[in-house]
Amino acid sequence: MPYLNAEQLNNLGLKSIGSNVRISDRAAIYNPEQLEIGDNSRIDDFCVVSGNVKIGRNIHITIFCNVAGGSEGIVFQDFSTLAYAAHVFTQSDDYSGVTMTNSTVPAEYKNETKMAINIGKHSIIGARSVIFPGVTLGEGTSIGAMSLVTKSTQPWSIYFGVPARRIKDRSRDLLQLEQKYIDKYG
Ligand SMILES: CC(C)(COP(=O)(O)OP(=O)(O)OC[C@H]1O[C@@H](n2cnc3c(N)ncnc32)[C@H](O)[C@@H]1OP(=O)(O)O)[C@@H](O)C(=O)NCCC(=O)NCCS
Repeated sequence: MPYLNAEQLNNLGLKSIGSNVRISDRAAIYNPEQLEIGDNSRIDDFCVVSGNVKIGRNIHITIFCNVAGGSEGIVFQDFSTLAYAAHVFTQSDDYSGVTMTNSTVPAEYKNETKMAINIGKHSIIGARSVIFPGVTLGEGTSIGAMSLVTKSTQPWSIYFGVPARRIKDRSRDLLQLEQKYIDKYG
């Protein structure tokens, strides 16, 4: 994958950037002054990242993802993953018909929901899943492919479906591997 070189990364003007960060030259980064990205994290081809977004260490945002932080912000805690074509957004129009909708219409005619999103440490979100505004994924959440997450999740749990439901516990074994990884690579 063609990643930006050190000079190109520097020229993006990010709020902060860690070491060994990789951003594809085919990713679109809007509002770079609001984007923080930690060590070893990676954003792949055809992702769109906008608004207030804080990406921890060892985060992978894979191809075709939409990360729309808006004003409220999205936080990706360390070691979390967005699989192919996942959508995470903090703002949503009022679908009831009471107000007008969409970005071409001034705010005074709309009633947008705006709520922050927190993606817990070691969470993984499966391909083509959607995370609604206001959701907090507890640490170690895994979300199956093509799920719709409308509510916050319990830690160390596996969810899937539309709307996403808790299916079973998720193993914590990976924490031992995390410790080994940190001991070896820092
Ligand atoms: C949710 C998930 C983790 C469950 O895995 P699992 O525990 O091994 O579950 P199983 O494969 O045994 O499936 C259990 C049942 O749930 C169904 N199921 C599995 N994943 C599902 C999903 N995302 N949505 C709806 N149903 C699903 C299976 O068809 C199966 O149904 P059945 O009992 O009627 O046969 C996995 O299926 C998944 O969606 N992984 C994400 C994969 C992905 O997006 N990868 C991207 C690259 S990292």
